[in-house]
Amino acid sequence: MKKQKIDPIRSTSLQIVKKTLNGQDLQAVLNQSLNQLENQQDKALLTELCYGYFRYKRQLEYLLKTLFLPKWNKLPLDIKIVLGLSCYELYYLSKIPAYATLSWSVNLIKNKYNAKLGGLVNAVLRKCTQIDLTDTIFKQDNPSLATFLSRKYSMPFWIVELLLKEQNKTDVENFLKSSLKRPPTSLLLLKPITIPKELKPGILQETPCGFSIKPKWEEKIFSFFKKNNIPYYPQSLASQQILLKLISQIKEPIWDACAGSGGKSFVLYRLGFKPFASDINLKRLLFLKQQLHVWNLKPKIFRADAKQPPFKKVTTILLDAPCSGLGVLAKRPDIKWKRSLKDIKQLSAIQQKLLSNTFQVLPKGGVLLYLTCTVTKKENEEQVNFLLEKYSSKVKLECIIKPNFQTEKEYFFGAKFIKIGN
Ligand SMILES: C[S@@+](CC[C@H](N)C(=O)[O-])C[C@H]1O[C@@H](n2cnc3c(N)ncnc32)[C@H](O)[C@@H]1O
Repeated sequence: MKKQKIDPIRSTSLQIVKKTLNGQDLQAVLNQSLNQLENQQDKALLTELCYGYFRYKRQLEYLLKTLFLPKWNKLPLDIKIVLGLSCYELYYLSKIPAYATLSWSVNLIKNKYNAKLGGLVNAVLRKCTQIDLTDTIFKQDNPSLATFLSRKYSMPFWIVELLLKEQNKTDVENFLKSSLKRPPTSLLLLKPITIPKELKPGILQETPCGFSIKPKWEEKIFSFFKKNNIPYYPQSLASQQILLKLISQIKEPIWDACAGSGGKSFVLYRLGFKPFASDINLKRLLFLKQQLHVWNLKPKIFRADAKQPPFKKVTTILLDAPCSGLGVLAKRPDIKWKRSLKDIKQLSAIQQKLLSNTFQVLPKGGVLLYLTCTVTKKENEEQVNFLLEKYSSKVKLECIIKPNFQTEKEYFFGAKFIKIGN
């Protein structure tokens, strides 16, 4: 059989999706391929395909499985992924003509398998082009509300079911809608800068230490940074805002006990604090250390398990706890396919230990800031209640900031505790 030409971007996207489904981080795997590409359009298409696949996986697989391919479960993984990627193109990338999508996917499957499977893919995708994605499609077998929402908004059923138990329907639907939308590019600036007048219209929203950028302005703003050697760190504004709301009147020494690769520490540095930063994960700390050296800041970094605090007394503790990450699905859609209900139970046990053990090393008057980037009550409100009950006479809840499902696109949770007794 004559081998057909294979589209390099689509076959790379297939490999990236496979690696991500195997547990690797989507952005990290994608970066390896992006670094090898020169053409900006190729880079943009590869990114769009991979992110789109993970955003819409459940919705597209529902269509393919129930409408077109009753034998879906028996198909090889590569064919399922190719169908998912091409279906995403057909429904969501209107600039790509349908014949081009059919051509690359059929060629890829013919080459990798045989002409018969290529023909099957062709037939299935042709049917897709005749179907509109309306609510009727997702409701055809009279499903429960959770199943319908899970199909329509491409969210694992267990997440929708859990959220419907915890939040009202409108909030859940807002959350589901926004998890499908790409958030704007945003960043933290390590030093205050003056943005030239001609670039100001490109700024979408600002915080005291960073800003988000309007679509189509990224290239201009990033080339200004490059030309002027301006250091920045990619970081969502919501992540800065939650910390900024909690840190009024905090005092040093500050310990960022789950510093990871340093996002929150960078905000503290930017505001003039010099936190101690630790994490259990050495790889993330190395990134933080390198970054601080590049920025000429003297790092105070060490590896530690925050369940066994290395300090006897520290005035402020920032606990940006490990969590399920369901508040940042818009930016990291692969997370939703990697998490399970069991993870939430395990994470909540770790969060309790972290809260309880770090609180113990605070002196009277000390402050504990608890942050997550998730929306489950088990990891948020229930953790606050846990600490209040466990140390009832020694702790005061100064403030609590819950995700706002009406206005936000990325959801963070924060609580500020003050130790009032030893
Ligand atoms: C939400 S991330 C932190 C993100 C970071 N603060 C930032 O803004 O970039 C949670 C971090 O907790 C760390 N972690 C998990 N268990 C830990 C433990 N027992 N002690 C210290 N760090 C832990 C993880 O390695 C991860 O880096």
